[in-house]
Amino acid sequence: MIVTIDGSAGSGKTAAAHALAERLGFRLLNTGAMYRAAGFLLLRAGIDPYAEPRVAARIGALISSLRFDMTHDRVIVNGEDLTDHLFTAAMGPVASRVATFPELRTPLKAEQRRIASAGDFVCEGRDQGTSVFPHAEVKFFLHASAEVRADRRLGQLRAKGEVADREELLAQIRARDEQDTNRPLDPLAKAPDAIDIDTSSLTLDAVVDQLWDAVRRYRSKARPGG
Ligand code: C5P
Repeated sequence: MIVTIDGSAGSGKTAAAHALAERLGFRLLNTGAMYRAAGFLLLRAGIDPYAEPRVAARIGALISSLRFDMTHDRVIVNGEDLTDHLFTAAMGPVASRVATFPELRTPLKAEQRRIASAGDFVCEGRDQGTSVFPHAEVKFFLHASAEVRADRRLGQLRAKGEVADREELLAQIRARDEQDTNRPLDPLAKAPDAIDIDTSSLTLDAVVDQLWDAVRRYRSKARPGG
C-alpha cells in the first residue's frame, strides 16, 4: 500500500509522514531528501545548477548513476552516507533549483518507484500523489501559512544550533513556494483525490491523528470486517 503526503516547505509533512509511517509499520520515503542529495552531489562535482542550459547533459549523466538507500532515516547514495550535509537552510533552495531539471526528475522519480515497490510506504514530497504514485491508495496535501512555516523552520534550525534570521527564512519560503508551484514539470499541487489539511493551527499529534484516521477509514472500506 502507498500513502502519499505532498505539501509545501515547512507544512509539517516530513514529521507527520515519519510519525504516520511508524504508527502504520510502513517505511518512509522522503523524496525531498533525494533532491537535496542530488543538489549536494552536483555542487560537489563542480556543476553550477544556475548555469543553464549547459549543465543539463552533465546532470543527466551524474544522476542516472545514482542508487539510493533511504532506510533507517539515512540518505545513502552509492554507499556514501550524505545525511549530515542535506538538511541545512542553504540546501533547500539548491534542491528546489535542481528539481526543475527534467534530466534530474525523471531518473529520481524512477528511483522513487523502484524503492517503493518493495512494500508498504509513506511517500512524501511535492509530486507523490500527482505524478509519481497517481494510483496511491490514500493521498494527503498539507499546507500552512508562510509565517507559521517560517517560525517552524526557525525552531528546527535553532534546535540544531544553526543561526537563522526569521525574515530571511520567510523570504526563502516564499521564493521556494513560487519556484515549486510555478515550475512546468511536476509542480507542487494538490491531487484532485488528496485529502487537504491546513496544519497552521494544528499540533503534530493532531495532524498525525487525522492522517491515521483517514488511512484507517480507507482500510476498513477496502477490507470490510478486516
Ligand atoms: O521537502 P524538502 O524541503 O526537503 O524538498 C526540497 C526541494 O526538493 C523542494 O523545495 C522541491 O523543489 C524539491 N522536491 C521536489 N519533488 C519532491 C520533493 C522535493 O521537487 N517530490
